[in-house]
Amino acid sequence: MAIKVIHDPLVFQQHMLALRMEGQTVGFVPTMGALHDGHLSLFHRAREENDVVAVSIFVNPTQFGPNEDLSRYPRDPEGDLAKAEALGVDVVFMPTPEAMYPPGFQTFVEVTELQKPLCGAFRPGHFRGVATVVTKLLLLAFPTRAYFGRKDFQQWRLIERMVRDLAIPTAIVSMPIIREEDGLAMSSRNRYLSPEERRSALALYRGLLRARELFEAGETRAEVWVREVRKVLEETPGVRGIDYVEVRDGVTLEPVETVGRGSLVALAAHVGPARLIDNWWVGMDTLDLVPGYNIPPFPWSEP
Ligand code: PAJ
Repeated sequence: MAIKVIHDPLVFQQHMLALRMEGQTVGFVPTMGALHDGHLSLFHRAREENDVVAVSIFVNPTQFGPNEDLSRYPRDPEGDLAKAEALGVDVVFMPTPEAMYPPGFQTFVEVTELQKPLCGAFRPGHFRGVATVVTKLLLLAFPTRAYFGRKDFQQWRLIERMVRDLAIPTAIVSMPIIREEDGLAMSSRNRYLSPEERRSALALYRGLLRARELFEAGETRAEVWVREVRKVLEETPGVRGIDYVEVRDGVTLEPVETVGRGSLVALAAHVGPARLIDNWWVGMDTLDLVPGYNIPPFPWSEP
């Protein structure tokens, strides 16, 4: 069956409700497009677990601050559709901002505590925009399961909490970070980097490798982790500014003094025009680069 592209929110909602009424399971992956293997790993998992796979491609204006990259955020609708089709996606929802936020729109969702720390402290209103659009997307797609990457660890935990608090009848599934061959976490924003900046950007991954060394050496003092990981970023030319290096509880995201398996070490830094984030879910996720293990074999990337 050919891939179905729907632009109108209510048409999408009717279509998805009809599928659920027929008894089909639906896997849903919300994205902002400019798709890479990180996104596609989510499509792949959704395809394995559900009768129908739906994806949304929507650059959500309410999660961007006034001085952020909304207007230059990369867009590639045709490339995105080809990738979605190759992965066996059934339905792609591509609304306009006007359709999602018509005149008079004034309802927002806030996850009051989980939205505060880490990226929330540097991007005021960001998680309010994310929570609001994801709520609306879940109400439109009415999925059995929805898939999120641990690249955006805070976003995943916040959505998990929101879905529980609001009794949204969707299971939230998370997936590991997909990395480039040298360790850089895949991101649509990596396209902003020059070759030189691209090399500087590896500092984030190297910082996490330093964290893993400390873990393996049995170091449990959070302050030592933060100091050591910061040092890796500070010593790399081209890393313009560090928003944060933090160690937190992997569920509540509250600060911890003692690090252990299940903690989160998270960082955000500016390289060239890009703000980059990365993290390690301590002892839970691998930082190893295992081609063909970490990255599913997608049809178009085969030799
Ligand atoms: P976007 O940045 O397009 O990411 C869509 C999904 O892909 C998110 O769940 C994100 O965590 C995941 N993802 C991105 N890069 C990844 C990587 N390298 N490895 C694994 N997963 C990765 O996140 C958003 O869009 C938006 O905030 C959205 C949830 C769509 C709401 O607008």
